[in-house]
Amino acid sequence: MDLRPPKVALVTGCSEGGVGFSFCQKLLARGYIVYATARSVDSMRGLQHANMKKLSSDVTSDEQVSSVVQAIMDAEGYVDLVINNAGKPFNGHAGPTTDYTSEEMKSIYDANVFSIQRVARAVVPRMAKRKQGTIVNMGSIVGEYPTPWMGVYDSSKGAVRIMSEVLSMECRPFNIKVVLVAPSSIQSKIVGKHDDYRLPPESIYTGFFPNIRQRLEAAREDDAMPSDVFAERVISKVVSSNPPSYMLLGGKSTMFRIMAFLPRSWVLSIVWGMFSKPRAKEKGELAPGRT
Ligand SMILES: NC(=O)c1ccc[n+]([C@@H]2O[C@H](COP(=O)([O-])OP(=O)(O)OC[C@H]3O[C@@H](n4cnc5c(N)ncnc54)[C@H](OP(=O)(O)O)[C@@H]3O)[C@@H](O)[C@H]2O)c1
Repeated sequence: MDLRPPKVALVTGCSEGGVGFSFCQKLLARGYIVYATARSVDSMRGLQHANMKKLSSDVTSDEQVSSVVQAIMDAEGYVDLVINNAGKPFNGHAGPTTDYTSEEMKSIYDANVFSIQRVARAVVPRMAKRKQGTIVNMGSIVGEYPTPWMGVYDSSKGAVRIMSEVLSMECRPFNIKVVLVAPSSIQSKIVGKHDDYRLPPESIYTGFFPNIRQRLEAAREDDAMPSDVFAERVISKVVSSNPPSYMLLGGKSTMFRIMAFLPRSWVLSIVWGMFSKPRAKEKGELAPGRT
């Protein structure tokens, strides 16, 4: 009989159909007590288990993040694993970097970057007291190999990478492991259809409209890894006694491993070529302005 106390995990961004939902299932299967958060508890109704605790929390709110961590401390007294999974590529807007307003850009950074520091601020001192814990941050391959037309999201994930690396150093004195996961393409709800996508009327990129829409829909490609498979691979590593500091995983990940050997200027030229050439079936398509 195992008399050790159960492991406790917090996972953010756990709505059904996404990677966070699958992370919870994998942790439950390993006997964890799992605290799952999303903006709406109803969006997690498919997560049913005696060890499953669902809380509503917006990762852009200091108060909500802090009260979730306090609730875990009050109920369990400790947290072993935190997965900063919540994130978003769009906020009603996407596309060329210069088409964003400052408010649209801040909102993406708030959900993707500030949220990680917000959660770390709440959990690291608690983990440090026990001299144990693991924090997993969901970055993205686009934080390393950015593409045109998604510059705000891509740069936010680049910031996640650097923040994870710095946190991993600063957490060393306290035996807290920090893992950066860089997914390439995973099947989830992250990218929907963009049939109603419009460029702002003042955009200088109307000639690239089909390429922009192609980029927005790229994660729906056929070789995207099922989120269940992805979650199993990540969880099996991060719950081990020696988690890796970095994981690159998902559709096309081999291509990205090869790109690491090429000069950076070549990589950027290749990527620009991929997302800027007219595609045969869309050559005649008009570039609608945003109405
Ligand atoms: N799928 C991919 O190919 C891929 C590739 C690279 C990186 N990633 C990263 O992987 C992570 C999981 O994404 P996914 O593919 O599973 O996408 P998803 O299905 O859209 O899930 C994202 C989750 O984040 C939550 N979220 C967004 N903004 C939030 C906020 N302000 N507060 C609380 N929760 C919030 C969403 O909740 P709501 O339901 O409330 O919106 C949802 O539960 C993200 O960080 C994403 O950037 C995914």
